[in-house]
Amino acid sequence: MGIDIGKMRDIWISVCLQDDIVPGTGVCALVEGRQVALFRCRQTNQFYGIDNYDPVGGANVLSRGIIGSIEGAPVVASPLYKHQFDLNTGSCLQAPEYQLTTYLVRTQGAEVQLCMNTLG
Ligand code: FES
Repeated sequence: MGIDIGKMRDIWISVCLQDDIVPGTGVCALVEGRQVALFRCRQTNQFYGIDNYDPVGGANVLSRGIIGSIEGAPVVASPLYKHQFDLNTGSCLQAPEYQLTTYLVRTQGAEVQLCMNTLG
């Protein structure tokens, strides 16, 4: 049985304030029991959310990675083995078999919110 798209609704959770994330860096947030790495791009002021868990290094470290861009795509390099993960797709550039969950992030006023899609 497929997912009934009509019953999907977006649940947005306020995670922190925009000013809590220094431009060009990331922070870790515990959202609904999941560690999420939130990043704020210095150039575009865009926010991104991915799993904090680095499946290559096997540790919750991605929020402390270095962010940058490769051919226009925003990426984070893990502080462990320097694998780069695309912040839009969650894919690992060096090892495509690793795929992170990505989260929709938006700003509402001063707040940064994360979307947790649920069936409702
Ligand atoms: S902080 Fe966004 S590309 Fe460097």
